[in-house]
Amino acid sequence: MSLKYNHLVDLNDYPVSWWNSLISLAQDIYSNPTNYSHVCDGKIMATLFYEPSTRTQMSFQTAMIRLGGSIIGFDNPANSSVSKGENLKDTTKIVSNYADILVIRHPMAGTAKASALTADCPIINAGDGGHLHPTQTLTDMFTLMQEKGRLDHLKIGLCGDLMNGRTVHSLCKALSCYEGNEFVFISTNELKMPSYIKDILTAHGCKFTEVFSLDEAISQLDVLYMTRIQRERFNSQEEYLQQKDTYILDTKKMSHAKSDLIVLHPLPRVDEISVDVDSDRRALYFKQAKYGVYIRMALIITMLDNKSKTTLLKGRVHNGLHCDNPKCITSTEKYLPMSFMGDGTTVICEYCDERKLTD
Ligand code: NCD
Repeated sequence: MSLKYNHLVDLNDYPVSWWNSLISLAQDIYSNPTNYSHVCDGKIMATLFYEPSTRTQMSFQTAMIRLGGSIIGFDNPANSSVSKGENLKDTTKIVSNYADILVIRHPMAGTAKASALTADCPIINAGDGGHLHPTQTLTDMFTLMQEKGRLDHLKIGLCGDLMNGRTVHSLCKALSCYEGNEFVFISTNELKMPSYIKDILTAHGCKFTEVFSLDEAISQLDVLYMTRIQRERFNSQEEYLQQKDTYILDTKKMSHAKSDLIVLHPLPRVDEISVDVDSDRRALYFKQAKYGVYIRMALIITMLDNKSKTTLLKGRVHNGLHCDNPKCITSTEKYLPMSFMGDGTTVICEYCDERKLTD
């Protein structure tokens, strides 16, 4: 279904060679930015942000402007016709006729895929609820290449809200495709990595361990990826408060880490990294945010080329079967075709990856 355009919904829809060529292009743009300043002359990028954002939205906008293109969009759906009740399908249809490329962020899982179904231009997923965040992962991979010189044989600790953090889901899926990577998941019991991500790692033969203590894990790591507790994804303030402040990376903990550890964070930081750590040369999160502009420039150029076409729904449309995940886009946009992967007693929703028993 929808073979008209190439879309970036999930990085794993593309082969590793595609990611690697994006990173090489970003490296060239980083070294020779002026060579690219007119590549997108006359092109328009729309950013539809139904959720707050600083880095993702502004780095996309900066990327397009640095390529010579222009930008339109909203960062608050309350100021658009969404507030009058317009559905995702209609907003996407209209804006994708104004723009050459559309970047979307939304609180519901599966939104980028849902909007790509009706779009008349390529769609880029800039975060769909707690599900995926492929362009943050490209930023993280570009940072790893620049700072570690490789994407394989790394021991990566991921710490914080592993259940709701979309950045860590996309990152693990991508890094599991490179040889010899090992993961240490550092979280409380309540905020563990979802099992569908662990299943992907197992299928790729990647080793992973789950631990509670950051103190115990830190000395073994090549990369420490800190994340904030995702307050907006909790059902109650009480549940959030129970989790808040569990992990704080400070200079004392850093003193146990390897001298060539790098500390990454997609940002925004709340209080999970003490500000004293910022002056440690291993703290690379601000540089990481800057690298995000170059990889997004590479992505915009590549997507506008429109060489490949994306198959959006690969599974089977099951009439009468619904996804049980209340955070799935299909729970609010009722017209969407319900498509599931698998034929057995357990099927997987193609929008949000949630499993469902069929009997
Ligand atoms: C992340 C996001 O929005 O998922 N931020 C980002 O895009 N740089 C991480 C977060 O909000 O915690």
